[in-house]
Amino acid sequence: MTGTRTLIAYATKYGTTKEIAEEIQDILTENGIESDLINVMETGSIDTYDAVIIGSPVYMGKMLIEARDFCQKYMQFLAEKWVAIFVDGVSCCPPGEEAERTLIAAIDEMKDYVKPAVKKVFAGSLDPSVLIEADAQIADMVHPPVGDFRDHEAIRTWAREIASAILENNNSI
Ligand SMILES: Cc1cc2nc3c(=O)[nH]c(=O)nc-3n(C[C@H](O)[C@H](O)[C@H](O)COP(=O)(O)O)c2cc1C
Repeated sequence: MTGTRTLIAYATKYGTTKEIAEEIQDILTENGIESDLINVMETGSIDTYDAVIIGSPVYMGKMLIEARDFCQKYMQFLAEKWVAIFVDGVSCCPPGEEAERTLIAAIDEMKDYVKPAVKKVFAGSLDPSVLIEADAQIADMVHPPVGDFRDHEAIRTWAREIASAILENNNSI
């Protein structure tokens, strides 16, 4: 293991983003990077980490409230870290530049609090049978794409790139 301590802080409503975060953690481990995988609502001090990967689904065009709160709460610490943010959603299914821009905009909304070195959009997953009533009603109105659109190879490829960037950043400190 390297000396680089990495936090993967995720938000999730139905588990998709947690599973993406777990895949990323597996690849970091394979590349010798030790990491902690923690829900954004359960993070304590983040001072001990050199790098932070924040992951959130997009709901109604925004990162989940707890992920936005995390960025705001830890803005001073995040300013000193190497940060990557990924979001996942189904509006980029099928993929398209415009849809991707909308999802990147959800990350950019956090720009007053965090300036990530890397931003990434992943296709997410939507299973209408597990939605709480309020979400089901919204889904009924907007008819989002339904299914598991996750591209596991894309997730692993990105995680390998992130591993390289973290190691490079650590070497340059
Ligand atoms: C009520 C509702 C609103 C959503 N809004 C968006 C959206 O604005 N953009 C998008 O790309 N996906 C949207 N989605 C899809 C979720 O982002 C996607 O299902 C995500 O992968 C779920 O992640 P989670 O299981 O970690 O919460 C929405 C889903 C629901 C149920």
